[in-house]
Amino acid sequence: MAQVSGSADAPDMGRRQFMNLLTFGTITGTALGALYPVVKYFIPPSSGGGGGGVTAKDALGAEIVVSEFLTTHNPGSRTLAQGLKGDPTYIVVKEDKAIADYGINAICTHLGCVVPWNVAENKFKCPCHGSQYDSTGKVVRGPAPRSLALVHANVQDDKLVLTPWTETDFRTGEEPWWA
Ligand code: FES
Repeated sequence: MAQVSGSADAPDMGRRQFMNLLTFGTITGTALGALYPVVKYFIPPSSGGGGGGVTAKDALGAEIVVSEFLTTHNPGSRTLAQGLKGDPTYIVVKEDKAIADYGINAICTHLGCVVPWNVAENKFKCPCHGSQYDSTGKVVRGPAPRSLALVHANVQDDKLVLTPWTETDFRTGEEPWWA
């Protein structure tokens, strides 16, 4: 009896294994499909060939709302925001109370310190080795070898969109060293 039962079971086992394989394959395929957006999430958007722009964000990571920003930031102010690639970037409010169409990357071109804005002296002064930049970020004293990098800053739907600056540096008339 056991032998009969055993031989009768043999094809069943084969079928079960085959079904198991099918099921496994289906689950694996489903899992891989589900993982795709997760994997995609961790690939930086820049590698996807997008436009390369970001909306400026405040220190807490919230998008800056331009109309609100202008009620709390005076003409002439320079305020740090998160810019392209997360770089600290100064948002400039012009004397006419509009946001300037350029932002200034705050990373010192000497050794990379974040350069504070000095209101009293109307310039950026690096605390690390004393480099100075004028109010547009143009270098006026070394050891920094170059001016602070620029980005374009454009208001769209009450947000501030920052995009790479690849054109001539308006402060020096030279090609941008950072592009
Ligand atoms: S890092 Fe700014 S002066 Fe050296």
